[in-house]
Amino acid sequence: MKLTSEKALELLDQARGLAPDDFWIGHSICVGNTAGIIAKALGMDEGVAKTLGFIHDIGKRNGWGRNNKYSHPIAGYEYILNLGYDEEYANICLTHSYLNNDINCVAGGLPNTDRYRYEFVKNFVESHKYTEYEKLINLCDLMCTNKVLTMEKRLIYLEIKYGVFSNTVYHLTEAQKLKKYFDDKLGYNLYTLFPELINN
Ligand SMILES: [Fe+2]
Repeated sequence: MKLTSEKALELLDQARGLAPDDFWIGHSICVGNTAGIIAKALGMDEGVAKTLGFIHDIGKRNGWGRNNKYSHPIAGYEYILNLGYDEEYANICLTHSYLNNDINCVAGGLPNTDRYRYEFVKNFVESHKYTEYEKLINLCDLMCTNKVLTMEKRLIYLEIKYGVFSNTVYHLTEAQKLKKYFDDKLGYNLYTLFPELINN
């Protein structure tokens, strides 16, 4: 079953109040809107980009954190599939945090291997061919708190919040490659699409 951006927003609304706080919902809306703007500039489908951005963190309705065994990527993946939506919508829940087809290329330190279905998530990330939309959500997740920031500013925010780990330089390097990938596709610096970056 297809998922529309309107329905994706409804799923976010239904999740209000379930997790320890709702900041992630504002973040998800920012990721969807940011992805929509870049997708439109690239001639991609704006609706698909927005939908995937809105639901990428939907697993956070079950909470989050390193000690949560039911991590938000697999929780979101199972939630979207259980609602009967197509794999392409569930997959964004698994791919959004991991760059370079590598479960270790992630912000906030190396993943906790004790988590529920860790091997499944690891194998999925390693073997999945990321779509252009999935790459775009990877980027936009690194550009949004609940408002759009430069990726560099957002990464500093993440490091201040979570710390610096053995894989941080690797993650920063791959993040820069990802930003360059989309700049090259556009033929200009994608930050010019967001005049509000000057004030954010
Ligand atoms: Fe996110």
